[in-house]
Amino acid sequence: MVLAAQVDIGDEYLAQPEEELCARIAGRKRELGDRLLILGHHYQQDAVYQFADATGDSLKLARFAAEAHDRRYIVFCGVHFMAESADILTADDQIVILPDLRAGCPMADMASREEVEWAWRELAGVADGRVIPVTYVNSSALLKDFVGNQGGSVCTSSNAERVLTWALARGEKVFFFPDEHLGRNSAYALGIPDDEVVLWRRGEKLGGNSAEQLRRAKVILWNGYCTVHMQFKAEHVAMWRAKAPGVRVIVHPECRHEVVRAADQYGSTEGIIKAVSGSPAGSIWAIGTEVNLVNRLKHQYPDKQIHSLSPFQCLCSTMYRIKPAYLLWVLDHLARGEVVNRITVPAEVAAGAKVALDRMLTI
Ligand code: 13P
Ligand code: SF4
Repeated sequence: MVLAAQVDIGDEYLAQPEEELCARIAGRKRELGDRLLILGHHYQQDAVYQFADATGDSLKLARFAAEAHDRRYIVFCGVHFMAESADILTADDQIVILPDLRAGCPMADMASREEVEWAWRELAGVADGRVIPVTYVNSSALLKDFVGNQGGSVCTSSNAERVLTWALARGEKVFFFPDEHLGRNSAYALGIPDDEVVLWRRGEKLGGNSAEQLRRAKVILWNGYCTVHMQFKAEHVAMWRAKAPGVRVIVHPECRHEVVRAADQYGSTEGIIKAVSGSPAGSIWAIGTEVNLVNRLKHQYPDKQIHSLSPFQCLCSTMYRIKPAYLLWVLDHLARGEVVNRITVPAEVAAGAKVALDRMLTI
């Protein structure tokens, strides 16, 4: 994915105290009223998250966007692929805006359409039976378009097992990209034996597998990963179990398989919030996901002991690019009737991508 350059918004915004920026954002929100919908992913920093009209995990936010027929402007406080999906799911006259164009996702960049199409052709040369492609929503619109055209579906971290089941009912194999770990954890949860799950290493012939391995495989995983969730280790789980007897460990399924297996449970960001909020007072949690969400839960539930699973700060630096200064900058423009940082997926790409997204929303 090549992101358009973010313009320098200048000291008029960047040098202002956060308090003043927030007061001005609140004013602009009032002014724009029902024309505006601000969506906020759970990894957003609090100063931005507080302005979201709706918050959620990737699936919930995609649904909000798809149902926001009455809103002219959708300002997406999240990352680029989320804004692209929102644009695909909304009408042509609705405008989706990403406050800082540098807010990409490193994992989404690990599988380009060219690379996947190349692998697809190689796979077709050796695999018997039908292969169904499934792309994690953390991927470019170009890749979603490819998947839609090849009879596959998008999935998110909260429905990956369901989508995998759907795909395996339609074909002999699933080609799952870009996140190896979400794919492996979901395949394991469905009881697919380890030797029927293989890794496709980009840049290697047949992804580094023999033709026989690929013929036997049920699930073929791309070797992409989330740089944030890779920081959680199985030894962190052991550390918390030793340090805090009774602790419950909950992690995101983008974590490595050994971490997910060592944890008590796993779930999407929305799933993690539900589990923690529904637990009794006095519960102890070690959470393996992005630090802004963990800190928010810590403040929201002072009657529970909430910790990050890792001793290190696991911050998604691209999510963190959405700052109050950039949110105010886009809203100031909207108030003047000007649109900046619009995310538009070309119609010829959006068509197939919408098929893949709609399949997910109906599975
Ligand atoms: P969910 O919010 O869907 O769990 O996804 C997490 C994530 O990494 C988004 O990029
Ligand atoms: Fe991408 Fe990981 Fe950040 Fe999510 S948390 S946006 S997967 S880098």
